[in-house]
Amino acid sequence: MEVHRSLDAARAACASRRASGTLGLVPTMGALHEGHLTLVRRAREENDAVAVTVFVNPLQFGPHEDYERYPRDEAGDAALLEGAGADLVLFLPADEMYPPGHVTRLDQGALCTELEGAARPGHFAGVLTVVCKLFNICTPTRAYFGHKDFQQTVVVRRMVEDLDMPVEVVVCPTRRDPDGLAMSSRNAYLSPAERAEGLALVTALGEAQRLFAAGERSRAALEAAMQRILLDRLRRPADYAAVVSPDDFSRPELAHPGDVAVVAAPVGPTRLLDNHALGAKLGPFSPGP
Ligand code: PAF
Repeated sequence: MEVHRSLDAARAACASRRASGTLGLVPTMGALHEGHLTLVRRAREENDAVAVTVFVNPLQFGPHEDYERYPRDEAGDAALLEGAGADLVLFLPADEMYPPGHVTRLDQGALCTELEGAARPGHFAGVLTVVCKLFNICTPTRAYFGHKDFQQTVVVRRMVEDLDMPVEVVVCPTRRDPDGLAMSSRNAYLSPAERAEGLALVTALGEAQRLFAAGERSRAALEAAMQRILLDRLRRPADYAAVVSPDDFSRPELAHPGDVAVVAAPVGPTRLLDNHALGAKLGPFSPGP
C-alpha cells in the first residue's frame, strides 16, 4: 500500500493507476470504522485499484462545530486500510487543498438547504466543493459513499450529473452495530448512556417501517410516529423526523416504497442522523450489553 501526503504525489499515483485500469475512490475524513471498510472492500471488488482519501474538510464544518476535535488517527486508519486492501492512501494537507485565495464553492440551492442543510448552513457547499476537488485530483472510475449520509449521496449524484463528471457514484448500504446504531465516526463522542439514547433514532425508523409495511401511507402519520418516539426517548424534539422523496427531498402526502424516512437529533455532545428507505428490511437488532 502506498501512502502519499501531497497533492502532486496523490495526483501522480492516481494517474498511474488509471493509466493501466479502473480506479475506485473512497473519500473519507478518517477515524475509520467498519462502514468505511465496507466501502473499501466493495471498491476492491469492482476496480483494478483502490484509493482512499483522508481529509477532514474544514469547508463543511460550521464555525461552532467539531472541526478541531473531529477524531484523527492516521496510524490507525492506515493499518485498517492495509487490511481492507487499499492500494493508495492519500492524506491530503489542508494548506494545499485550500491555498490562500481559494474562493470557489459549489452549491445546489434548495437541495443544500433542506434537512441537514437547514441545521448546518453551508455544509453541503463544503461537501460538494471538496468532492469535486477530490474527483479532479484522483480522476476515479467509480466513487463510493455510504447511504448513512443519504442527503450527501443525493447532492453528489446531482453534481456528477449536472456537471457531466466522468465518474460512477456507488452508494453502499448503511453499516450498523449489532444493536442497530448506524456506524459513524462521531459515535466515538458518545458515553454508554448516550449511545443507548442514540438507539432512539433506529427505533423511530423501525416504527415508520413497521407502520409502512402494515399499510400506513400517510406521510404525516409516519412522521408523527417517529417524532413521538424521539421526543419520548430523548426528552426533546428531534431536529427533524421526515419522510422525503429520494430525488429532491420533497415531502409527498402519501409515502411510496423507496421514499426515505430521515431522522436527526442531538444526543449528548453530538448530533446523530440516520435514515431508512421505506419498504426495505430494517433489523431485527440485538440489544446491547
Ligand atoms: O462523508 C464524509 O466523510 C465526507 O463528507 C466526505 C464525502 C469525505 C467529504 O469530506
